[in-house]
Amino acid sequence: MENVREKILVMSGKGGVGKSTVAVNLAVWLSQQGKQVGLLDVDIHGPSVPKLLNLDKKAIKGGAVIEPVAYSDNLKVMSIGFLLPNENNAVIWRGPMKHNLIKQFLTEVYWGPLDYLVIDCPPGTGDELLSVVQLMENPDGAVIVTTPQQIAVLDVKKCITFCKQLNLPVLGVIENMSGLVCPHCQNRIDVFKSGGGEQMAKEFDIPFLGSIPIDAAVVSSCDSGNPFLNSDNNNPTAQALESAFKPLLMNEE
Ligand SMILES: Nc1ncnc2c1ncn2[C@@H]1O[C@H](COP(=O)(O)OP(=O)(O)OP(=O)(O)O)[C@@H](O)[C@H]1O
Ligand SMILES: [Mg+2]
Repeated sequence: MENVREKILVMSGKGGVGKSTVAVNLAVWLSQQGKQVGLLDVDIHGPSVPKLLNLDKKAIKGGAVIEPVAYSDNLKVMSIGFLLPNENNAVIWRGPMKHNLIKQFLTEVYWGPLDYLVIDCPPGTGDELLSVVQLMENPDGAVIVTTPQQIAVLDVKKCITFCKQLNLPVLGVIENMSGLVCPHCQNRIDVFKSGGGEQMAKEFDIPFLGSIPIDAAVVSSCDSGNPFLNSDNNNPTAQALESAFKPLLMNEE
C-alpha cells in the first residue's frame, strides 16, 4: 500500500445505486488519463467487477503475493470473483473470514507502484467496509454514490456519518440515475426524482461532484462488460461522468 499514491473508496449506504458502475468507469477514466490504476472489488458476496470488465481470468498466487489481473497496460484488477470456481458460487462466510480475505487483498496483492487504487465497496456500512477502512493505512477519501429519492438518501446519509466517525474524508457525492431523457420525445422524466444527492451534499457541507442521468446504454455496457467510458464519449452521460471525475484528479495535483 505504501506504493499507492491515492486510495479512493467508492461507497454508498444503499445497494444498487451504481457504485460498481461508477468505480469501474472511474478506474477506466483515470487509466485513460495515463495514470497507473488499480481497481479492487471488496464486495465479497456480490463481486461485480469481473463481469463489468468482462474478465474471467484467474488471479495468480505466486509465492507470497497474488498477481492482479491486467485489464490494460495501466489498469490492474483484483476481485474475489477471480478466486471462485464459477460465477454462481456463493461465498458463505462469517465476519472474521471476510476480514481475513480483505486483509490479504490489502497486503498480498502485488500492484506495483500505483497513482490510484479505486475500491468498489459493498452496500451498507457493515463488516467489510469497516475492515477496509481500518486495515488500509490512511485511505484518501470516499466518493459517495446515491440516487435522488429519499429512501436512498436516508441510507446514504448514514454512510456519510460512518465516514465522519472514522475520520475518512468525503471527496464528494455523485447523484446517479438522476433523470431520464426520453429517447422518443426528448422530454426529461425524473424517475427517481432529482436533486436529492445535491441537497444532501449541501446539508453535510461536502462537495457535490455531479448528476448522472439514467441511460439504457449504461445498462448495456455493464451487461456486455465494456465500460461505458471505453466507447464513444461524445454523449451527455459520458460527459456527466467525466465532469464528476475531474475534481478527483485535481485533488491530487
Ligand atoms: N446511470 C445509469 N443509468 C442506467 N443504469 C444504470 C446507471 N448506473 C447504474 N446502472 C445500472 O444499475 C444496475 C446496478 O448498478 P451497480 O451494480 O453499479 O450498482 P451497485 O451500487 O454497485 O450495486 P450493489 O449494491 O449490488 O453493489 C446495473 O444494471 C447498472 O447497469
Ligand atoms: Mg456493486
